[in-house]
Amino acid sequence: MGLKLHSLNNQIRYWDSVAYRKNFSHPLNVRLFQSMVSPEAHILDYGCGYGRTCQQLVELGFKNVIGVDASPSMIERGKHDHPHLNLHLIDDSELPYSNETFDAVLLFSVLTCIPTNLRQFRVVHEISRVLRPNGLLYISDLLLQNDTRNRWRYDEFADEFDIYGIFRLPDGAVVRHHDLEWIESLTSNFLQMALHEIDVTTMNGHPAKAFQYLGRSKGGSQ
Ligand SMILES: C[S@@+](CC[C@H](N)C(=O)[O-])C[C@H]1O[C@@H](n2cnc3c(N)ncnc32)[C@H](O)[C@@H]1O
Repeated sequence: MGLKLHSLNNQIRYWDSVAYRKNFSHPLNVRLFQSMVSPEAHILDYGCGYGRTCQQLVELGFKNVIGVDASPSMIERGKHDHPHLNLHLIDDSELPYSNETFDAVLLFSVLTCIPTNLRQFRVVHEISRVLRPNGLLYISDLLLQNDTRNRWRYDEFADEFDIYGIFRLPDGAVVRHHDLEWIESLTSNFLQMALHEIDVTTMNGHPAKAFQYLGRSKGGSQ
C-alpha cells in the first residue's frame, strides 16, 4: 500500500493536463481574511493553480501576494490570464523562501491532491517554516461527503488506499476527502482561530461540503 500510494502522490502530471480545462471555486472569506491580515502583509498562495485567488487578493488591495504551484501548465495559464501576478513554479517538496517570510499562507483545494498523511504533514510543516510566528494558515478543502455516490467510491477504494476517503477519479487522479478529526491533527501545532463548514461546487460540477480552517502559527518550523 505504502509504495503504491507513494507513486500516486506524484500526480502533478494530471494537474498539468487539466490546467486549461478545469476551474476551481473554493471561496475566500473576504470579511474574515481582511479582519486578520493587513493589506501590506506578505501572502503566499500554496498550490495557486492558475492564480484565481491571487488575482482576487490583488483586487482587494493586498500588495504582496505570491502564488506557487508545482504544475507548469497551471502557472503558464495564470501568467497568461493575469500577467501582473507574481506566480512561480516550485517542485513539490521545498519552498524557495527563508524561514518566517510570510504573514499568511493559503492552501486552497491542495490537500485533496495530496492523498497520504505523510505528504500532507510535510506540506504543512514546510508552510510552518515559512510562516512568521503568529502568521495565518488558511485551508479550504473537501470534507467526507454523505451522499450515496461518494460513499460508494470511498468504499470501493478503501482496501486499495487504506485511508477512508481516498479514491480514484474516472480520469485517473487520486484524491482525498477529509474528516475534521484528521484536519485537527494535521494542524495541531497551530492555534485554531476558526473552522467553518461551507458548500462548494467541485471542479467537476458537483455540489459538495467543504471546510475552511484558519489557524495561527505558534512559531518555529514545528
Ligand atoms: C484543485 S487545484 C486548486 C488551485 C487553487 N488553489 C484554487 O483554489 O484555485 C490544486 C492545485 O494544487 C497543485 N498541487 C497539487 N499538489 C501540489 C504540491 N505537492 N505542491 C504544489 N502544488 C500542488 C496542483 O497543481 C493544482 O494547481
